[in-house]
Amino acid sequence: MRFDIFSVFPAYLNALQLSLVGKASEGGAIDIAVHDLRDWTEDRHRTVDDTPVGGGAGMVMRADIWGRALDSAFDIDLGRENPRRILAIPTPAGYPLSQEICTDLARNSDQIVIACGRYEGIDGRVAEHYASREEVEVFEFSLGDYVLNGGEVAALALVEAVARLVPGVIGNPESLVEESHGSAGLLEYPTYTRPLDWRGESVPQILTSGDHGRVARWRRDEALRRTALRRPDMIAALDAQKLDRRDRAA
Ligand code: ADE
Repeated sequence: MRFDIFSVFPAYLNALQLSLVGKASEGGAIDIAVHDLRDWTEDRHRTVDDTPVGGGAGMVMRADIWGRALDSAFDIDLGRENPRRILAIPTPAGYPLSQEICTDLARNSDQIVIACGRYEGIDGRVAEHYASREEVEVFEFSLGDYVLNGGEVAALALVEAVARLVPGVIGNPESLVEESHGSAGLLEYPTYTRPLDWRGESVPQILTSGDHGRVARWRRDEALRRTALRRPDMIAALDAQKLDRRDRAA
């Protein structure tokens, strides 16, 4: 899996050299290349933006510069026939990013090119143009219902969420099994470690009982309770057939 990230602040993406994602790219499980969009400008001031056609506040990033930059990534030979190439564009106006989408991208794509916009965004023809090209799928995505100053933080989130699901990146795939937003459709239950008593708070006693059945039931109840409180939308989306009698009582 190859990631190509384009930004006018490439240093923002230095964090990708750290931790698990950094190790995975050093080890060759994934490839990450960060590019400075200004390398595709042609004027002395390395200008990437202009005023919005039709008027309005702010500046819009130019399609011609984005086109040259993105073509350079889509021209890269990935060493296989008909690779699945994604153009991911972070925008608060995008489709919500989800664990399901990240899982699909991790398993079934060969290249994710991320175009980080700044200012009032990227000229709309860029997304339209690449969507019309047979070899590219365009995915305009949002991290949530709030506005960031640019796409870089969203690019970091996408790379981390996808890379950890690429086979071979996480040493212990078991740790992917019971996560929030996994297949159970619930938020994860709380977890604890030693010391068992801390500032007058003790770890729930059931967890030290050694009774695996009761521990599993307690965790399921906590997951249900937490999800009902924090994400009633997820409870509404649960498949009733997958709930047992105890679930319904909880
Ligand atoms: N760019 C600005 N705001 C964003 C958001 N909420 N999600 C993704 N990209 C963004």
